[in-house]
Amino acid sequence: MPPKHFTLNTGAKIPSIGLGTWQSPPGQVASAVSYALQNGYTLIDGAYCYANEDEVGQGLAEAFSAGKVKREDIFVVSKVWTTYNTRVEEGLDKSLKSLGLDYVDLFLVHWPLLMNPEGNHDRFPTKPDGSRDIIQGYNHVDTWKQMEALLKTGKTKAIGVSNYSKLYLEQLLPHATVIPAVNQIENHPSLPQQEIVDLCKEKGIHIMAYSPLGSTGGPLLSAEPVVKIAEKHGVKPSSVLLSYHAPRGSTVLAKSVTPERIKENIESLIDLDEEDQAELKAYSDKLVAEKKWQRFVYPPFGVNFGFPDKQ
Ligand SMILES: NC(=O)c1ccc[n+]([C@@H]2O[C@H](COP(=O)([O-])OP(=O)(O)OC[C@H]3O[C@@H](n4cnc5c(N)ncnc54)[C@H](OP(=O)(O)O)[C@@H]3O)[C@@H](O)[C@H]2O)c1
Repeated sequence: MPPKHFTLNTGAKIPSIGLGTWQSPPGQVASAVSYALQNGYTLIDGAYCYANEDEVGQGLAEAFSAGKVKREDIFVVSKVWTTYNTRVEEGLDKSLKSLGLDYVDLFLVHWPLLMNPEGNHDRFPTKPDGSRDIIQGYNHVDTWKQMEALLKTGKTKAIGVSNYSKLYLEQLLPHATVIPAVNQIENHPSLPQQEIVDLCKEKGIHIMAYSPLGSTGGPLLSAEPVVKIAEKHGVKPSSVLLSYHAPRGSTVLAKSVTPERIKENIESLIDLDEEDQAELKAYSDKLVAEKKWQRFVYPPFGVNFGFPDKQ
């Protein structure tokens, strides 16, 4: 069976699979979180930007009051949104209030840019022409300095980044007093981002892989080698896509609000053998060589984050 945990550079354990909550609609996310926690999950991934942390908090409270789950046994992740990148503690305080918690286990910089903190919208400010209201020339290292200061508050056990390319990590690391514990990135056989995974491994930064099924609707479930490997093992393609990450040393985040899928996603993890891993790697290598990689999540910020597939 795949490992249940990995160890962060803080010494803390992080589960190898977690429940995602992006686009989990109001009216469904609380029960999804509560159901997941009572059915084997110990990691919940959320963010201020998802505008559903109140309900994630309700789901946590529901699971705690059912008596099966204790706060200290679960791993809660939140992220500072780009309009709060100059005031990260304020961002964290808002998330903690919504979640009904005193601390999170991991707090991430969601994207390395600054959107206008005094703009016309709390999360997605726009300019008069309708484009996103980005503050140009902002140095993302300044946000990291604020993140480092958060550790002393006890409001988060660990800090990390998200959506950091190799280029951005190389800009950040020489100035970091605390090495990020995590880089949360889109990761699956159609977007292996091996250069980031390798650099993070070298620096002791744990990868959390998001959109493992290809995000909304799970478009990767029909990818040819995934289907073939699933048939070989007598499992569903979702099982192959989610099991791809443990051998890479990464935690995988799968979002669902459907109880059967939430349960199935954690219970169907398998050990992919060396032949399976080689086949998926060959598939990835070919896509990368032909520049046919697929990135499913790329908000229209109009900023070059240094990802090779976006040059
Ligand atoms: N840091 C970032 O910038 C960032 C960006 C994107 C995502 N994330 C995190 O990563 C999490 C996962 O990524 P994601 O939400 O983009 O996509 P995902 O987990 O790859 O895919 C979610 C989609 O797959 C469906 N699904 C789930 N399990 C399935 C199964 N067993 N069979 C068939 N379909 C299934 C879900 O439908 P139902 O819900 O209807 O069941 C939903 O439509 C997010 O929720 C979020 O927490 C972080």
